[in-house]
Amino acid sequence: MTLAFQNISEAPTDPILGLNDAYKKDTNPNKINLGIGVCMDDNGNVPIMRAVKQAESYILKTQSSKTYVSMIGSQDFIDVTNTLLYGESFKSSHTTTAQMPAGSGALRVGFEFVKSCLGDLTVYAPNVTWGNHLGIIEKTGLTHAKYTYYNAETQSVDFEQMKSDLLAIKEPSVILLHVICHNPTGVDLTQSQWDELAILFQNNTHLIPYLDCAYQGFASSLDEDIYAARKLSESDINFIFAYSFSKNMALYRERIGALSIYSKDASKSYAISTQIQSIVRGIYSSPPAHGAEIVSTILQSDELKAEWINELNNMRERVITLRSELASRRPELSFLTQQNGLFSMIGLNKTTIDTLREKYGIYIVGNSRINIAGLSPSSLDYLCNALDEVHQPA
Ligand code: LMR
Repeated sequence: MTLAFQNISEAPTDPILGLNDAYKKDTNPNKINLGIGVCMDDNGNVPIMRAVKQAESYILKTQSSKTYVSMIGSQDFIDVTNTLLYGESFKSSHTTTAQMPAGSGALRVGFEFVKSCLGDLTVYAPNVTWGNHLGIIEKTGLTHAKYTYYNAETQSVDFEQMKSDLLAIKEPSVILLHVICHNPTGVDLTQSQWDELAILFQNNTHLIPYLDCAYQGFASSLDEDIYAARKLSESDINFIFAYSFSKNMALYRERIGALSIYSKDASKSYAISTQIQSIVRGIYSSPPAHGAEIVSTILQSDELKAEWINELNNMRERVITLRSELASRRPELSFLTQQNGLFSMIGLNKTTIDTLREKYGIYIVGNSRINIAGLSPSSLDYLCNALDEVHQPA
């Protein structure tokens, strides 16, 4: 029997990574990449952090084996990650944290955990969300639905409608929530809104919060940005938490993140840990080591940690400055200064987005999301001139 390879059709191009591939091929000398979420410098490079370079040099000198890491990951990595995520709110007997191949890997393993341990639950995602959230949920075989989040008219969270949508869910369900620097809008919940959500989840235990955090440190500070996870842990709510070091340590290609599951019933933590290990074994057996070693080396050293925080603060300040400069040049984008992190949606239609790409080499994701960190003082003028030109009546 012949295998029917002739029936294989093309998969759709990824709206973010596909755009990045197209950007790389573009020969326009003025091109600007406002697509993929990476933190660039003023020359469009994505530098390696100094703390990372120093950690790598230490690892190169001291590493004595390349044997397997355990299924759950390295204990050093897990310990430093728990401290970074939960600080004084950490409750060791209730928390299972595992090393993961970046935020996407953590999300996938977390959804596999939902499917195999909690059942075929619907995952409610904010309207709007990172495009790949929905892809990962679908690939796991779970269904997804939306709850109200972003109000495009006010460029802010419609919190009353969000709560009412959540309260209308009567079946056991998973509620996907962005911890900070919401992707793609940059619009976040306030601490008092998280406090209200914690009460909502305490009163509605059929709803399991699933946190996703890829931008700790990009809004205000490491501690302030992780408020949501600490609040849910202090409130003793069952939750799932996917975390990424791709952005805040600029470790994108090293694929390092974590999955952390908080169980109200501490006697279940061991079972949860075995289930995570079983899922990992069935997909990739054990995680890659290098990124985790970098993270552990930095977070175990006061000196390297201070250097890292300093570099992260500089990245955050750069993005905040670019937000205000773009907002001051374009009054219709004044909301940019109220939003956090790399992304905002600037309300362009498809025709304008296509024209900016084809005529000016300006790459913007199809939902009108721009990566502010892809701008520089010189490319700001180029972008503003291009926006003026495309908005001229024909
Ligand atoms: C993004 O949103 O651009 C990044 O998280 C990169 C990705 O994988 O989509």
